[in-house]
Order: sequence, then C-alpha cells, then structure tokens
Amino acid sequence: MKLPDNYTPTANCLAGKVIVVTGAGAGIGREAALTYARYGANVVLLGRTTAKLEQVYDQIEAEGSPNAAIYPINFEGAVEKDYLDMAVRLEEEYGKIDGLLINAAILGQHTPINNYAVDTWNQVMQINLNSPFMMIKALAPLLAASGNGSVITTSSSVANAGRAFWGAYAVSKAALKNLTEILAQEWDEVIPVRINSLNPGGTRTTMRAQAYPAENPADVPPPSEHMPLYLYLMSDDSLGVSGQYFNARQ
Ligand SMILES: NC(=O)c1ccc[n+]([C@@H]2O[C@H](COP(=O)([O-])OP(=O)(O)OC[C@H]3O[C@@H](n4cnc5c(N)ncnc54)[C@H](OP(=O)(O)O)[C@@H]3O)[C@@H](O)[C@H]2O)c1
Repeated sequence: MKLPDNYTPTANCLAGKVIVVTGAGAGIGREAALTYARYGANVVLLGRTTAKLEQVYDQIEAEGSPNAAIYPINFEGAVEKDYLDMAVRLEEEYGKIDGLLINAAILGQHTPINNYAVDTWNQVMQINLNSPFMMIKALAPLLAASGNGSVITTSSSVANAGRAFWGAYAVSKAALKNLTEILAQEWDEVIPVRINSLNPGGTRTTMRAQAYPAENPADVPPPSEHMPLYLYLMSDDSLGVSGQYFNARQ
C-alpha cells in the first residue's frame, strides 16, 4: 500500500500522544522523532548512543516542541527483563503509549551465506528481530491503554523475497514482516492496537551508504521525504488500518 493521495497531516495531529522511537539518534529514526515532536507528540528517544539522543533531545527542546525523554538501551545485549522494566518506567511516567516506531536495525555482512559469520548472524537477529519481539510483547498492554495504539515496524524490500548476499538482514526483515502480520491478526478486535509494516525504500542514511558505497547519496531521498507516511500511520488518520505493508517510495 501507499500513502493516500494528497494526504496532508494536520498541525498538532499527534498532540497528547506518547510515541516511542527506537534508533532515534540517527537516520530515519532521528527524522521521525523530530517530526513527531513537531506535530505535538511527547517523544521517547531510544537508542544505544546517548550523545546522539541528547542532540535530538536538544533540537526538540530548541524548536519548542513538547517534552522529549531519553531512554538509552543497547538492543544487542538487552534481555526480556530490560523490556519489562522499560514498560514499568513508561507506565509510571505516562500511563500509556500511543505509538511505537520499531526502527533500529543493523545491516550485518554483505556476503554469501557460506561465509556468513555466526556471531554476526546472531547479532543481526537480536537487534532486528528478537528485540522488536520482546519490546512489542512488553509494551502491548501500554499500547492497549492508549485506547488507540499504533505500531510501525520498519521493513525493507528484501523482506519480500530473498536476495543473494543480504544474509541475516534479509531474513530478519522477512521475519519481522511476518511477525507484524501475526500480531495484526491476533490483536484484531481483541486489543485496540494496530500494527503495520513500513518500507522506507532507499533513503539517504549511514546504513544506505554502507550498503551501497558507490552510490551518490544525492540520488536517494532524505528521510524527511518519507515523513507524511510516518505521520499518517502514527496519527488517528490511519485508524482501522492494520496488518498492511506500506512503501514510502513508489
Ligand atoms: N536507509 C535505507 O535505505 C533503508 C531502506 C530500507 C529499510 N531501512 C530500514 O530503516 C530503518 C532505519 O535505517 P537507517 O537507514 O536510518 O539506519 P541508520 O542510519 O544506520 O540508523 C540506525 C539506527 O539504529 C540504531 N541502532 C543500531 N543498532 C542498535 C542497537 N544495538 N541498540 C540500539 N540502537 C541501535 C542506531 O544507533 P547508533 O546511531 O547509535 O548506531 C541508529 O540510530 C532500519 O530498520 C532499516 O533497516 C532503511
């Protein structure tokens, strides 16, 4: 699916909402966090590099947006208890979560499976797949408490069909898409939380430069171009939309 034609988010469409963004310190996650704050949300910035999160926090504050919060966490080492503790902290602070953007990921190796290092495979799976599974599971009650929660999982074109040399990254994204579909079905008419996959497509970030080192970065759009779709799925404009796969680039 794609963004509805002529979609224009209204100012303050996220006012009063609490939105958690993973990988909020850089790339697409950083842009989404700044955008959500500009549209009125209280954004919780999750990531592994505190200095980057602090820069985003400072920018949100400088722009006069609602209060943000920083929650440093390294998804590589985090275990279920860390996510349950996170849920307790967020419940104490906000009592609910209205949105969760699962965005943080790593690329791993670009190599044939025969050469793929098992340690790297496990690291990619932990960050890109196991961490979202544990986080969504831990935060689902808080999302339900919103009465109208929205989860976005970040996909990739390699989620839709295997592609040589993309290894654990492709497998993790295919599984995350599948997890998203499972959750959409299980939650439908059971808890008031919708969940959708969003494939940003080629986007000018560090990860893209890592994957395509010979590419001119100017040939792919910056994260800001995708923000209408990120706003649509997080705002009440997408109420009732769940279990769908959205492409930011046409
Ligand atoms: N860019 C593209 O062309 C493209 C295309 C399709 C899909 N995507 C997807 O879009 C999402 C964002 O990608 P991006 O291009 O913005 O990537 P990016 O610039 O590399 O940013 C990734 C973010 O994830 C965080 N992160 C990585 N490992 C982490 C860990 N162990 N614990 C906590 N945070 C961690 C990074 O934190 P640090 O900055 O501290 O390392 C960073 O904030 C990813 O899910 C990616 O798969 C991107």
